[in-house]
Amino acid sequence: DKYLIAVIVGSLRKDSFNLKLANAIVKLAPEGFFFRMVRIGDLPLYNQDDDASQAESVRRMKGEIAESQGVLFVTPEYNRSIPGVLKNAIDHGTRPYGQNVWAGKPAGVIGISPGSFGTAMAQQHLRNILATLDMPTLNQPEAFIQAREGLFDGDGSIGEGSRKFMQNWVDRYVAWVKKHAG
Ligand code: FNR
Repeated sequence: DKYLIAVIVGSLRKDSFNLKLANAIVKLAPEGFFFRMVRIGDLPLYNQDDDASQAESVRRMKGEIAESQGVLFVTPEYNRSIPGVLKNAIDHGTRPYGQNVWAGKPAGVIGISPGSFGTAMAQQHLRNILATLDMPTLNQPEAFIQAREGLFDGDGSIGEGSRKFMQNWVDRYVAWVKKHAG
């Protein structure tokens, strides 16, 4: 069996820790799992007036979500919530009314921050949103990752100290996708 996971990174920053984390997670996935980074930085600001004629970038993103068997959200915390760019992408994917592309896609939520709270509050806000999108979301294990020296090794993989923890998280997410993919 083949599973395609759409990866949504909530930071547009070139040197984003969350992008690094996403790339490191991909390396821990088993055979049969494929990952696609979904661009959200080129989406216009959501405007309900455009529902009948969604921008090309919006249609592209929605197509990529529709083709996937799961969605992985890797996001920073901005001011104790999720970044606006991520919320913007999520909102686009739910419209026009009745055409919510997220519904039913098994979701994983993870994030990394230099702060010791490690995106915990953003993740809780995101879980609230994913519930209304009707995405079956992996509840446990949770993963609040702090960006620290040695977290990533030289080639961008998860370093020795956190490898087991991250591998377990990925294994659980992968099993979740297999269980819930349509
Ligand atoms: C932050 N940062 C932050 N960190 C955190 O743990 N909790 C927070 O509420 C916030 N708030 C916040 C707001 C704004 C506007 C910015 C720009 C940053 C710090 C943030 O975790 C840090 O910049 C990360 O490096 C952002 O993730 P990326 O871009 O490295 O993936």
